[in-house]
This record gives sequence, C-alpha cells and structure tokens, in this order.
Amino acid sequence: MTRATASSVDVSKTTPGKRIVVTGVAGFIGSHITRTLLDQGHHVVGIDHCQGHPTEITERNLRPNMDSELFTLVRRDLADIPLEPQFEGADTVFHVAARPGVRSSWGAEFPSYTTSNIVATHLLMEAAARSGVRRVVVSSSSSVYGGAPDGAVTEGDLPAPLSPYGVTKLAAEQLALAHARCTPSGPTVVALRYFTVYGPRQRGDMLISKLIESALSGRPFTVLGDGKQRRDFTFVADIVRANLMAMDADVEAEVLNIGTGVTTSVLDVANLVGDIVGRPVPLEFAQAQAGEARETHADVSRAKDVIGYQPTIDLRTGLTRQVESASRSRATIMSATSSGRQAR
Ligand SMILES: NC(=O)c1ccc[n+]([C@@H]2O[C@H](COP(=O)([O-])OP(=O)(O)OC[C@H]3O[C@@H](n4cnc5c(N)ncnc54)[C@H](O)[C@@H]3O)[C@@H](O)[C@H]2O)c1
Repeated sequence: MTRATASSVDVSKTTPGKRIVVTGVAGFIGSHITRTLLDQGHHVVGIDHCQGHPTEITERNLRPNMDSELFTLVRRDLADIPLEPQFEGADTVFHVAARPGVRSSWGAEFPSYTTSNIVATHLLMEAAARSGVRRVVVSSSSSVYGGAPDGAVTEGDLPAPLSPYGVTKLAAEQLALAHARCTPSGPTVVALRYFTVYGPRQRGDMLISKLIESALSGRPFTVLGDGKQRRDFTFVADIVRANLMAMDADVEAEVLNIGTGVTTSVLDVANLVGDIVGRPVPLEFAQAQAGEARETHADVSRAKDVIGYQPTIDLRTGLTRQVESASRSRATIMSATSSGRQAR
C-alpha cells in the first residue's frame, strides 16, 4: 500500500539516529513532519493532548506513525505536564502544537488560545533550556502580518495581526525568539511563518478540504465575501522540507517566511478543484468574516538565503494529491458504513 505522506517527495536529508520531540503530532502538519523524521531513522517522541480533532481524525493522523518502533506517543497537554522527562536527550524540538483557527479565536474560546499557543510555548522553552535541547523549530503563521500591503511580505514588515489567533501566534514566536536571545545556554530557535498549508490530512475546517468535500459530495461551498481574496497556498511536503532544513541551519534566533510566492484567489482554487475532481464545486456566497486577510503573499527570499528553502510543489500537483487522498478516505468511510449496514 502506498501512503500519501509528505516524504513521497525528495526532502532534505538529516543525520539519522537523533532523539527528536514533535508537539502537535496528532495534527495535520505534525503527523507529516513525524513520518519524515521516522523515515530518516530518528527516534520521535510525539506530544499531543489529542483534543484538536474528533477522535476518528486524531486516529487517522496518528496511524501512519504508530506502527514505527522509533515512535513514542505522549497523550498529554503541553501546558499541564513536566516536559523535562520528555525532552531528556533530545536534540531538536519541532513545536507544531497550537490551537489553530482564526474565526473561533474571537469570543469565549480565546483563553484556550492563550494557554495552548502562548503559555505552552513559554513552558516548552524553559524546559528545553533545562534539558539541553540544541534547537527548537517553531511553527508560526502568516497571520502575524494581518492585512498584507500590495505585494509579498518580508520578515522585516511590521506584524499587525487581524485576529486574536494571529496575536497569539505572534506572541508565541516572539517568546521563543526572546528565550533564544536571552538564554545563551538554551536552545537556538527558528520560527517558520507558514502560508496557508494544504495537502493530505489537511484540517477539515480549512478552505481546500471544504472545496474538495463539496466537489465530491455535491453539497454547496459557502464563499465568505466575493471570493477574490488571495492566498499563498503551500503544499505540506514543502513545509516538512523547511522544518528539516531549519533543524541544522547555522543561526541563533531567526524568523522565516515559508510559502511559495504565488497567490491564487478562492474562486480560482475552487475552479481548479472542480477541474481535478471532474465536477464543479457548487458555490454560494455569504458575508466576509472579521479577521480574514484580503491577501497573503510570501516573499521567501530570506528562507532561501538562510536555510536554502525553495517551494517544489505547484498548486495543481498538490491539489491532485489532496483530492486523491480525500477520495480514498471517502471510499473507505463509505465502504465501512455500508458493511456496517449489511451486518445489522
Ligand atoms: N494549517 C495551516 O495552514 C497553518 C498555517 C500557518 C500556521 N500553522 C501552524 O502550524 C501548526 C500546525 O497546524 P495544523 O494545521 O497541523 O493544526 P492541527 O490542529 O491539525 O494540529 C495541531 C495539534 O496540536 C495539538 N494541540 C493543541 N494544543 C495542544 C496542547 N496544549 N497540548 C498538546 N497538544 C496540543 C492538537 O490536538 C492538534 O493535534 C500550528 O502551530 C498552526 O498555528 C498552520
């Protein structure tokens, strides 16, 4: 059986046999980073409270890694356990865990964003310093920029998040960088600002997952606003490569954009998904929501200079892989449902 993992493309090679911690291992991006590290012969301790998704999605995300003897899962909340025992002997921590999602960060759920994104990052950096971890690679976000000016944003542009989520991501990356600058004996830090990540196992609340589900099911997709908002869509394998490149880069405290430099409108990506699936995505329109940037667009020249990163997967290729993976999952669920009905 072939697995749709990020490692199916050429990724940066690392020296095998290291002990590495990945937080958020039961999530979309963490599960891909982990699979690649295991494929490269590293021992991975994965930490996740496994509450970010419904149980069946958590299990699906964990499955590709659970069969490896090199993998250990710690099902705990980062903000609620002593992290030193998990970090003992670890070379690198990939800090991927966070409470994601722009819309739900407004209102009553905000305290869980501050706990998972800010408090957990502070505790993680303190424990990493006490445990002798060499490098922490932090998953940050293009949401720190807010409404982009015309053209691509660089790491030197002033951050101005448009949502409480974006504020917590900015706080998290800056906390980690402050620890790196002010604790000389502690780990060095690379914070990677991802631009709209997609690919197999993408979160169900994200645009491309929803578009594919609409094309496959025929249920309408609700475009928020006019659909002309543009995103820099980055395939998850390129995110994995950037993480591996950041692992050994010769830097102390660095923040880098990880995107493609190419933007596509929501309407154009809906058309592309329809074209790949072979059925158009039925669209309906509703009012735009607070906190959504009009455009996200990465200038990735600093990532190229510092870690040698360049995107390798274009949108049509990446979408085709996600459509294939979603179609397989759907077929599995439908056959399980129909054999359940027959058994009754
Ligand atoms: N997906 C994107 O397009 C995107 C874009 C920019 C940045 N990011 C960042 O990348 C990272 C991963 O995103 P994702 O899309 O894979 O999200 P995800 O929700 O699929 O994965 C996050 C995982 O972290 C876990 N988690 C959250 N809080 C935790 C805590 N306190 N203790 C233990 N586990 C905890 C969740 O259970 C979940 O499994 C996040 O930091 C996110 O902010 C993602």
